[in-house]
Amino acid sequence: MWGGRFASGPGAIMEEINASIGFDQKLAPQDIAGSLAHVAMLAKTGIVSAADAAAISDGLKTIRGEIESGGFTFSRALEDIHMNVESRLATLVGPAAGRLHTARSRNDQVAVDFRLWVRDTLDQIDAQLRDLQKALATKALAHAGDVMPGFTHLQSAQPVTLGHHLLAYVEMFARDRGRFQDARRRLNECPLGAAALAGTSFPIDRDLTAATLGFDRPTANSLDSVSDRDFALEALAAAAITATHLSRFAEEIVLWATSQFAFASLSDKFSTGSSIMPQKRNPDAAELVRGKTGRVIGALTGLLVVMKGLPLAYSKDMQEDKEGTFDALQTLSLCLAAMTGMVEDLKPDVARLEAAAGAGFSTATDLADWLVRALGLPFRQAHHVTGRVVALAAERGVGLEDLTLEDLRAIEPGITAEVFAVLGVRNSVTSRTSYGGTAPVNVKAQAERWLGSL
Ligand code: ARG
Repeated sequence: MWGGRFASGPGAIMEEINASIGFDQKLAPQDIAGSLAHVAMLAKTGIVSAADAAAISDGLKTIRGEIESGGFTFSRALEDIHMNVESRLATLVGPAAGRLHTARSRNDQVAVDFRLWVRDTLDQIDAQLRDLQKALATKALAHAGDVMPGFTHLQSAQPVTLGHHLLAYVEMFARDRGRFQDARRRLNECPLGAAALAGTSFPIDRDLTAATLGFDRPTANSLDSVSDRDFALEALAAAAITATHLSRFAEEIVLWATSQFAFASLSDKFSTGSSIMPQKRNPDAAELVRGKTGRVIGALTGLLVVMKGLPLAYSKDMQEDKEGTFDALQTLSLCLAAMTGMVEDLKPDVARLEAAAGAGFSTATDLADWLVRALGLPFRQAHHVTGRVVALAAERGVGLEDLTLEDLRAIEPGITAEVFAVLGVRNSVTSRTSYGGTAPVNVKAQAERWLGSL
């Protein structure tokens, strides 16, 4: 393809380090779509004849069919997807094939291919995130009134509802979708026509190719067009944050599935056994979602490091943009599918959750609040009184609600029998009606709002 200045081919090691066809063949559909748009534009502007353009288009479509059917032979000697396609086109069409590369370089070609691939993948991830949100909101609605322990420092803090806990993730995934949508908006400019780095002297129509490929507009600076990969970095950053959210939830599923927590179980569909310990049911899918997050974060770091020292414009370093990005976004997609499956499959043990919700004196704050409301104590004093009540219960090894009225009065004489109403976990959650709070009525309304908008 560029042999004119060269007397011999590359050495074996040169070919091995240089070739990207092993991974960039994934870009074949995008590469052909880009070439079809380019040649149609070349014909429309009179840069190539209608007859040559028609032959080139037909040839490209034939190649597309060959690749789809698995009948295409990729060659490492032809380096990358662009030259593999172009070489085959020359065989099919003859010398006219050589006109396809007029007013174009592999630098703008690969930039367009990669953008198209990332764009398609972002759309797929957005749809998968929406499915996950739906699964979570559906479960949240079913468990809007079921009580579980809420934690800080992984210590029992205050009772919450399971629905509230699940909706926390719906909010996170909504922001994740916002980040992907933002990334897509900025990505959606077409670099085709930037050529190698400086633009071209041919009278091309970049608005036409941009529109044909579904971009909002052409990129405005040819150097930037061929040398930046921030669209991939943004996608990876959004992916790393999403994966981190998935990983936190996966960690909770792992904890919940232990016999110590026993908050929820996964069916056989999402559990695996041990080859030596017959009793084991391991939540491997959750562990893998947690583990694969490392790869996604690694891909972001990897590409940032590739890019950080590159002078404008294109350098071959940038060929290293693809494998990590492909892997990270496909890994995220798999994790999303697995997590949606697990959410649908997850069976909470609501009786066990409610029993656990009362552990660790989790309604102590309710007692303090009651002392403020009913007896008019300043909150700091109420906090102190409650601390003494908790200490007494701890000393006796009982829950707050198991203390007698006399016990409580010995600490604070103003306490009446009405206090027992706030010491139960259900009363505790029901009272948390502040906006964004865990009260079942709030959770039901939020879950319904989400299901309506999703
Ligand atoms: N395979 C190359 C890549 O992925 C395509 C662009 C090559 N451009 C060049 N000037 N050698 O970056």
